[in-house]
Amino acid sequence: RTLARWVDAVPRLPVPQPRRSVYSGADYYELTMLQSPWRFHRDLPAGQAWGLWAAAEDGPVGLGYLGPTLVARRDRPVVVRYRNHLPATHLLQSAVDVTLWRNVPGDPPDPPGGRMPQNFPTGRNVWAVPHLHGAFNPPQSDGYPEAWFTPDGLHGPAYASLQGARPNEAVYAYTSRQPATMLWYHDHAMAITRLNIYAGLAGLYLIRDSFEDGLPLPSGDFEVPLILQDRNLTSGGALSYPDKGPTPYHPKWNPNFFGAVPVVNGKAYPYLAVEPRRYRLRLLNGSNQRFFHLWFQDGGTRRPFWLIGTDGGLRSAPLRLTSVLLGPAMRVDLLLDLTGAPQGTRITMMNDAATPFPQGGMNVPMPEIMQLQVRKALSGRDLSVSPDRLSLRPIEPLRPTSGLPRRQFVITANRDAHHKSTHLAINQRLFDDPVEDFPKVGTTEIWEYINTSGDGHPMHVHLVQFQLLNRQRFDAPAYLKAYQAWIARGRVPATKPALTRYLNGPVTPPAAEEEGWKDTIVTPPGMVTRIVLRFDVPPPIDGIPGTRTSFPATYIQHCHMLEHEDNEIMRPWQIIS
Ligand code: C2O
Repeated sequence: RTLARWVDAVPRLPVPQPRRSVYSGADYYELTMLQSPWRFHRDLPAGQAWGLWAAAEDGPVGLGYLGPTLVARRDRPVVVRYRNHLPATHLLQSAVDVTLWRNVPGDPPDPPGGRMPQNFPTGRNVWAVPHLHGAFNPPQSDGYPEAWFTPDGLHGPAYASLQGARPNEAVYAYTSRQPATMLWYHDHAMAITRLNIYAGLAGLYLIRDSFEDGLPLPSGDFEVPLILQDRNLTSGGALSYPDKGPTPYHPKWNPNFFGAVPVVNGKAYPYLAVEPRRYRLRLLNGSNQRFFHLWFQDGGTRRPFWLIGTDGGLRSAPLRLTSVLLGPAMRVDLLLDLTGAPQGTRITMMNDAATPFPQGGMNVPMPEIMQLQVRKALSGRDLSVSPDRLSLRPIEPLRPTSGLPRRQFVITANRDAHHKSTHLAINQRLFDDPVEDFPKVGTTEIWEYINTSGDGHPMHVHLVQFQLLNRQRFDAPAYLKAYQAWIARGRVPATKPALTRYLNGPVTPPAAEEEGWKDTIVTPPGMVTRIVLRFDVPPPIDGIPGTRTSFPATYIQHCHMLEHEDNEIMRPWQIIS
């Protein structure tokens, strides 16, 4: 059954007020993870969904699906007490795969009792841990995948919290020490992130600063944060996710999953009623693994727009575009100028990215996402300025520290002798293998992602905002053969066959839309993608004990296709002093 288009208004994500009296100098929130009813579409009954609710004097603030938007000021710390109040049974219980995170062919057998929290007695199996994506935070507040906590107070081996947490809670301190941007918090629990985020455990975190305040940008009602997701919905209005997969090793795991229904801020095919003026649209791709290649259809034409910011904040200048690529977890900050648009104008946000991206082959298209409808009169003068007259924040290119070798990460999609997917990997290591990457504090490195797989992976590095240096084509099949032979001979995966022999294309600088601060980058198949990253650690937060970063400081990197990160394409790395 096809759902009626443009019948639900896109919800405004609620913004709770922080409490200021709990930690001096910091904003404080309590966010509780809960299951509650949520209606995804006018013509569907309400189904159950997961979300986070903020405690407030006049009752909890939340939607029922997703979490409220936290608005922070640059350099002003935020403390969040997260509480896991989810039910004993997972919302997508039939899709929980107890074989992940172990038993990869060749892996030693599990210790008696297993490693997975599902092996705990019934009623203790919903493990969760929130992470603030793109943020500069101490490791103990970063939401390490094994730092999960359950509703009944069990803790993963890496659990950490500021003082004062009850057993089903973790209290995290966020520095907000970075330029104005839109980050997002989401679940990051080991081997179940894809299901926890799919169920709704995600929300936005905006950082404001005085530079942004001084820009004549659309604000208030005219700045609209939008979380774009693909979902499957049952006729009963519930979320559905496949409970079978193609591989015998992980019977419920799918290497690729795409939902067929666009859901924006929790509503399927919604509309946004707008005035004929400029809008600032702040988009997050909150899908499990769908890429969006977005454009705005205006009658028979593509309406141009301006890109003013990327993952980590403002660009140095607006960039006029007619389409933009938005991979999983990435954000774009757009200006859409509807000045003078006649009442009744309808502008549809369209998407033509292949599934999987970029090679296609599964064909789960999602051409229409939402619609902007000019149906409100101008409520006041538009004080924003035309995007072509805006100057934004200058961006200094990062300078790699001289004399450092490039750190190389080989991305592989591993299959057994019968061509069945087993797992994906970085440098053929599993998540729990010993750490091999130790950037030194204060240095700036070049990382090379050598993608031998068929998918474009959105690679994400915690803690840092980095810059794309360039990309270059290489002979992936030949390199992979040499790499596998290298490993078969027992070589250390941290060293590799020399890549230079396999490079076979020109060095391509970033396209204009990928300039600026990024925390998640597309690594296309058959390409080497080079990024530049500076490694600093957050200073302790004044007056908040437990916020010192000690060395080695452990963070992670991973593919942000959630099905992939749940099956081993995720590795820790450590900053050393
Ligand atoms: Cu958006 Cu490691 O996460």
